[in-house]
Amino acid sequence: MLVLGLETSCDETGVALYDSERGLLADALFSQIEQHRVFGGVVPELASRDHVKRMLPLIREVLAEAQVAPAQIDGIAYTAGPGLVGALLVGASCAQALAFAWGIPALGVHHMEGHLLAPMLEEQPPAFPFVALLVSGGHTQLVRVDGIGRYQLLGESLDDAAGEAFDKTAKLMGLPYPGGPEIARLAETGTPGRFTFPRPMTDRPGLDFSFSGLKTFTLNTWLQCRDAGDASEQTRADVALAFQQAVVDTLTIKCRRALKQCGLNSLVIAGGVSANQALRRSLEKMLGELKGRVFYARPRFCTDNGAMIAYAGCQRLQAGQQGGPAIGVQARWPMEQLPAL
Ligand SMILES: Nc1ncnc2c1ncn2[C@@H]1O[C@H](COP(=O)(O)OP(=O)(O)OP(=O)(O)O)[C@@H](O)[C@H]1O
Ligand SMILES: [Mg+2]
Repeated sequence: MLVLGLETSCDETGVALYDSERGLLADALFSQIEQHRVFGGVVPELASRDHVKRMLPLIREVLAEAQVAPAQIDGIAYTAGPGLVGALLVGASCAQALAFAWGIPALGVHHMEGHLLAPMLEEQPPAFPFVALLVSGGHTQLVRVDGIGRYQLLGESLDDAAGEAFDKTAKLMGLPYPGGPEIARLAETGTPGRFTFPRPMTDRPGLDFSFSGLKTFTLNTWLQCRDAGDASEQTRADVALAFQQAVVDTLTIKCRRALKQCGLNSLVIAGGVSANQALRRSLEKMLGELKGRVFYARPRFCTDNGAMIAYAGCQRLQAGQQGGPAIGVQARWPMEQLPAL
């Protein structure tokens, strides 16, 4: 089955073609980061307008690259939520219009299910069951995954998502958007041990997270240094390292706890923050101790992309799930509401 995937939930227009027999045939992405950078974050209306501009050229590009004609496509998968409603509507309308014109089904896909399944596109995909850590710009969740659509939420952030904490902290320190890669880059030259930040909510049982206090702690440390006349690049890097280490340790402690609770030793990490090298190293070390494995997608498929949507949609369409012609999108959409395959 050949499926065209469209992703427009936030500030990336992603298009891809996935074939159940041959795998990923082509994928293209346009990131709007440069347009939103001057505002220090995503401006929803600008995001929607840009998706309108990019969508059809990217679809043409992907079809040409894969040498696929519309008549060969069996179905279209589009991100139906969660995300920015205006942005989601661009992908949904486009998918439904093409599906109607081409006489094929269109199916709305859950964005976080897309992220969660992205490591399935790699050479050595994880096998069910596993624990998934979803760490993106809008989500921090620990999920027990027993199959596609068989998701049990184990814990989540009570305030900021991990990526959001990276972005906001970076902004407070005067770094450009998106802050995650900026902090990661700065942290490489940080002095280990100069600052130690708290590991929020690790001293009590449970699998929920809270990153908002850590963000404030980081800001206060940075301001104290600055007020004392030390706003050097080295100090900025030292603060960035301490912040990143606190996030990484917190996520690692909670992942270990979740694996223990589920009696599993297979961990999937997905979403933009799963591209963080320090996080990968820390989780790999922990899984090494548990004689297990950690799985993640190639960096390009950690952040938003069309490939993960094409893949997730293909699994569901192949299993006979139908979408219908309605253009329906959801800003909020708990993943546990998804039907099991
Ligand atoms: N190397 C990195 N280290 C830490 N964070 C990173 C890194 N690379 C990207 N990020 C963060 O990942 C986030 C973007 O990821 P993603 O595209 O998956 O999120 P989103 O689509 O905005 O949110 P959601 O998927 O929850 O709707 C940003 O917050 C960004 O700062
Ligand atoms: Mg995303």
